[in-house]
Amino acid sequence: METKRAPLKLFIAGHGGMVGSALVRRFEKEKEVELILRSRAELDLTDQKKVLDFYQKERPDVVLVAAAKVGGILANNTYPAEFLYQNLMIASNAIDGAWKTGVKRLLFLGSSCIYPKMAPQPMPEDCLLSGPLEPTNEAYAVAKIAGLKLCQFYRRQYKALYYSAMPTNLYGPGDNYHPQNSHVLPALIAKFHEAKEKNESAVVLWGTGSPKREFLHVDDLANACAFLLKLDSPADWINVGVGEDVSIKELASLVASTVGYAGEIRWDSSKPDGTPRKLMDVSKLTAMGWKASISLPEGVHKTYQNYLEERAAGRLRR
Ligand SMILES: NC(=O)c1ccc[n+]([C@@H]2O[C@H](COP(=O)([O-])OP(=O)(O)OC[C@H]3O[C@@H](n4cnc5c(N)ncnc54)[C@H](OP(=O)(O)O)[C@@H]3O)[C@@H](O)[C@H]2O)c1
Repeated sequence: METKRAPLKLFIAGHGGMVGSALVRRFEKEKEVELILRSRAELDLTDQKKVLDFYQKERPDVVLVAAAKVGGILANNTYPAEFLYQNLMIASNAIDGAWKTGVKRLLFLGSSCIYPKMAPQPMPEDCLLSGPLEPTNEAYAVAKIAGLKLCQFYRRQYKALYYSAMPTNLYGPGDNYHPQNSHVLPALIAKFHEAKEKNESAVVLWGTGSPKREFLHVDDLANACAFLLKLDSPADWINVGVGEDVSIKELASLVASTVGYAGEIRWDSSKPDGTPRKLMDVSKLTAMGWKASISLPEGVHKTYQNYLEERAAGRLRR
């Protein structure tokens, strides 16, 4: 008689966020996976005792840490203490609690801002801690580096299969469209949509438009996480990206045409540009056989449709 294998218990921390909801979409398809999900109201991940009690009760086999205090340049610059403390506590509690309760595998999500401001482009994994960080999001970056190192050293000392993925800039359904705190891509979608609605003849954007950025759709990231969770001996941390970037000027005209805005685009060069370029070296992940499949034009089109649906349903995060 065939014995039915118990489903793999997968805890997705931060399942309500943009990345977390993409991970739920990806893994709810897998029959042999039982998802364990908790909202912040049910489980505040900065509360060490509550996290340990949760782990002792639920005993997940695998943990995906996609919870974090996330935001754009303005938010990072305005609330550095909160960005450092909350992200440090989330990483420490999620990783230490997992180890204390025998979680076999844990994948921690960091971000490309862990790499130095003037890192070689594209940025290889081993340029970590080789130079000063971008000051505008240093607090967040330091907490993410601490999470990465927690995984690396719990793995070295306790042989726990804990490791990290470093995604590039992400976008997709469920993104944050807050006028001040959002990232550049959702900010452009909202700005051009509202300008089209109000029939504005011109839109003024921050900076010069020359910085170059890389964008990965969250559904591609979720697929990359599924790929990384199947590896027997993954690297301690690995970059996840597309391997190509666009200038903010090119991105702005792509979003404007996707939204159907035909007015003029002007640049306010008195506003900060941020880091000149931030492109991930994804040769390691590519060599292992994983590649992003959603192109930027296709991804921006899908995301604008999501934006219209979320707006119409009053679900838009802002
Ligand atoms: N967005 C990007 O461009 C990007 C790029 C690279 C890496 N990442 C990484 O991807 C991960 C998720 O980012 P995201 O864009 O999905 O952010 P997000 O949409 O803001 O989602 C973050 C989630 O974490 C939850 N959370 C925050 N603090 C919590 C706490 N104390 N207790 C419990 N839950 C808490 C939030 O809950 P609430 O809904 O209650 O706030 C939210 O559901 C982060 O680790 C980030 O570093 C993001």
